[in-house]
Amino acid sequence: MDFKELLKERYAVKRYDNKEKIDDKVLKDILECAVLTPSAVNMQPWEFFLVKTSVGKEKLKACIKDFNIERFCDCYACIVIAAKTALNAQDVMAICKKEEADGRFENKEIFKNRYEHMLKAVDGHNFKGDIKEWCAKQSYIALGTILYASHAYGVDSTPLEGIDADKADEILDLKRQNLHTQCIVLLGKAAKDDSNSLKFRNKSRVNTVKEALFK
Ligand SMILES: Cc1cc2nc3c(=O)[nH]c(=O)nc-3n(C[C@H](O)[C@H](O)[C@H](O)COP(=O)(O)O)c2cc1C
Repeated sequence: MDFKELLKERYAVKRYDNKEKIDDKVLKDILECAVLTPSAVNMQPWEFFLVKTSVGKEKLKACIKDFNIERFCDCYACIVIAAKTALNAQDVMAICKKEEADGRFENKEIFKNRYEHMLKAVDGHNFKGDIKEWCAKQSYIALGTILYASHAYGVDSTPLEGIDADKADEILDLKRQNLHTQCIVLLGKAAKDDSNSLKFRNKSRVNTVKEALFK
């Protein structure tokens, strides 16, 4: 499908059909797309938590704001996107080792240069004190990936910031793992009477594209 058409077709579902399921294979494909999301110096400073069992959903429900509860309960599964709250030299080395295992370095010199380049970026943000914000920003790129991938696989979705992120951290024990919840993506099949469906409501965007002016 043409990518612009995909963007025009997908929308944030407000009401799900709670009888509809999603194949495990499709959920796996969506998560694999999330993992493929690009990030600055390839730090991938996030983790994705799939919640689909009724026990898991019941626990996670406590972090969902009232206005999102019905859609949360009716969706089939959700993905909690958590971003790292701290990064250090060990984390950088772990990524470098994986890049090495994936055959990205011809020799030890390239490995060393790569490690130093990545560490400089991470140290720079630690020095500025904005490592959390840096990681959080990257994780929203993954949110985009999940929304578009879901639609491409025929799955409807809703991004949720209407959550208590600290509560989600508590439920998933994320603080201990240096992670903080950023948002949750609901996945499922839209109900036929979903008020936000494009059958009932047109998509609406303002023009935010401007010609850059140079003095
Ligand atoms: C970061 C983010 C957070 C959002 N949080 C919520 C939410 O908590 N509840 C909800 O129903 N919709 C939420 N939305 C959906 C937006 O309202 C929706 O994407 C926007 O109105 C544009 O409409 P469309 O996605 O249908 O094109 C969120 C969207 C984004 C991108």
